[in-house]
Amino acid sequence: MAGDGVGPEAMAEVKRVIDWFVARRGLRLDLHEELYGISAWHAHGAVVRPEAWDLIDQADAILFGASGSPDYDAIPKHHWLPDNLLRMRSRLDLFDNRRPVRTFGGLEAMSSLRPEIIESADIVIVRELTAGLYFSEPRGIETLDDGRRRGTNSMTYTSDRVRRIAESAFELARRRSGRLCSVDKANVLEVSMLWREEVEKVHAQFPDVELSHMYVDNCAMQLVRNPRQFDVIVTENLFGDILSDCAAMVAGSIGMLPSASIGPKDITGRRQALYEPIHGSAPDIAGRGICNPIGSILSFGLCLTESFGLPDEADLLDRAVQRAIDGGARTADIAGGLPAIGTREMGDAVLRALDELHHETTPLTAAAS
Ligand code: IPM
Ligand code: MG
Repeated sequence: MAGDGVGPEAMAEVKRVIDWFVARRGLRLDLHEELYGISAWHAHGAVVRPEAWDLIDQADAILFGASGSPDYDAIPKHHWLPDNLLRMRSRLDLFDNRRPVRTFGGLEAMSSLRPEIIESADIVIVRELTAGLYFSEPRGIETLDDGRRRGTNSMTYTSDRVRRIAESAFELARRRSGRLCSVDKANVLEVSMLWREEVEKVHAQFPDVELSHMYVDNCAMQLVRNPRQFDVIVTENLFGDILSDCAAMVAGSIGMLPSASIGPKDITGRRQALYEPIHGSAPDIAGRGICNPIGSILSFGLCLTESFGLPDEADLLDRAVQRAIDGGARTADIAGGLPAIGTREMGDAVLRALDELHHETTPLTAAAS
């Protein structure tokens, strides 16, 4: 689902990358394309038509482009919900949101942070995505008897919701450097006190992982002061939203960053997942063919690892992206002084690098579906 804004342009490059893996690496997948957002409204009179919800429910993995456009103002209000993306997260229970942030060699100068601060930083923010401040009740806007209006949102967590995201984060930390930092506001918020206690309890199952706790305000500062101190961070929904944008500066451009949102295991052991770039729909540059497709391309890379169980293929794609950058391929967001290329040319550069790397490795034998 390419969605709104720059989504379709970026997704066109992802499709070429997918086709490459099918043609060159023996990847097998059953790919459906479905309109989402403004384009779906024009085609079907619905931002997400019922058939689309069926496809969403059935899919092992959803590649998502972007959601959001000024054109929504022209659609009758009762026909669209600004929170379709949130509905998708909630409907599929995609509680486990992974936002990897790392520096790319050659792009250090794109960051507002000094190169020696960000060099070789490599962090994953694990954001709880279906509870917390975004979803808890009570919520709403009401008018009080005296005429003042009151807006309310709540941050609640039950112990099971904390424990399952903590377990995911501990497992991820175990596969990486073995360090997990849980971020909360336990000096003020009861919900955070509970969060901290439950994370501590889960830690008992992961004695090999080193656990630390940090307050969210301090974490925001530490991410720009010394990002290399972090490996895996686990945190509440809104805290993760804010910290992941902040951490994006480590990578120099938000255009480079992918994400995965993963659901619980179903009875067959499958975890449904949605993959999307972090950058959003960028309406100011949409339709001009200049957006950076790498966030979307690397989101497909996360799909190769998490949904298809093909981490070596994802690694190949990561290396191809790095090679394209090493070769000087730069969309406007990462151009600095260099001449900028368009979305399509960046896709070309990644495909060329894939071809080169392909000749240096062996194709996969196990098929994925
Ligand atoms: C994100 C975005 C979304 C969020 C918006 C578009 C609803 O900022 O994925 O980080 O707040 O979760
Ligand atoms: Mg955000």
